[in-house]
Amino acid sequence: MRCIGRRLWKGLRVIDARTLNEPDEIFDALLTHLREATNDGRIVPVMSVFREWLPDEEEIRIWNHQLIRYAGYQKSGGSVLGDPLNVELTNLAISLGWSPPIEPGPFDLLPIIIQVGDSLNYYELSRSHVREVLIRHPKHSFIEDMNLRWYAVPVVSDMIFATGSALHPCAPFSGHYLGTEIGARNLADSNRYDKLPEIATRLGLDTSIQRNLWKDHALVILNEAILWSFDQEGVRISDHHSASDDFLKFCEQENKEGRDVSAEWSWIVPPISGSATSVFHRHYLKNPVYPNFLLQKAAWETRNGKRLLAADRGEQGSNQSVLEA
Ligand code: ARG
Repeated sequence: MRCIGRRLWKGLRVIDARTLNEPDEIFDALLTHLREATNDGRIVPVMSVFREWLPDEEEIRIWNHQLIRYAGYQKSGGSVLGDPLNVELTNLAISLGWSPPIEPGPFDLLPIIIQVGDSLNYYELSRSHVREVLIRHPKHSFIEDMNLRWYAVPVVSDMIFATGSALHPCAPFSGHYLGTEIGARNLADSNRYDKLPEIATRLGLDTSIQRNLWKDHALVILNEAILWSFDQEGVRISDHHSASDDFLKFCEQENKEGRDVSAEWSWIVPPISGSATSVFHRHYLKNPVYPNFLLQKAAWETRNGKRLLAADRGEQGSNQSVLEA
């Protein structure tokens, strides 16, 4: 419904991980996923399917929204160091025993929290598993001085994979980035890294008024920087104009085969320059189809998740991060 990159689906590599049960093996499988998807920068779409949900069996869940996430540290004055979106996950990781680096920074990798039945474990990701790109701009050197970076592969890990007959609560999947996801949302939104005011100021624009469109100018510079930096480092990324054209090609191909394409307009249309892209100028059906990825309640908000956290907190004294209930 939400993916603009569907022309790539036919190249999807599926890793069958349905026999795995041990948290250590699951973590290993996730590292394999990351390595294969990263493919040395030539990112390919991958999904890993873990055991299906059955009422009498241990449920497998990854608590992180994505395998790679940057920590968000809530500071006493109310501001956040890092990604404000991940403050809750960061606090959960800390409550399970994870220690942030001695000098916390804006782009610290969070551990992956894996639940198998009643056991909850966290695993640290080393930077060698995570390809990242430093953000630079071909003409504005101050962008490099801002020390911005982003990871190469978004692996969504908290959605439920519904085949139509079975539910897989753990089935992480990944494609490659669309520049605007990073440049117009993650680093730009005022409730994320909020970098537009600084970029505009360094461009010499007056941020006390709106009519000079300082935000828009800053957005274009930041989005140019994202695409350019990924290109320079040989990491695959799409721009929103090409991705829009590709999506419409996909719709055409599907229609030729007699199939309708369902989509959510607000997700397909990019967050900048919407009307300058081809996907803006039409509407889409919204018929649910299977197989599909669906949203599920955050793991720590389920009855089971709350029980596990409460039990783990009870064990803090023994300094255990691993819980066997
Ligand atoms: N929007 C999310 C992010 O910026 C990633 C969602 C999946 N995106 C993708 N290109 N497969 O991290």
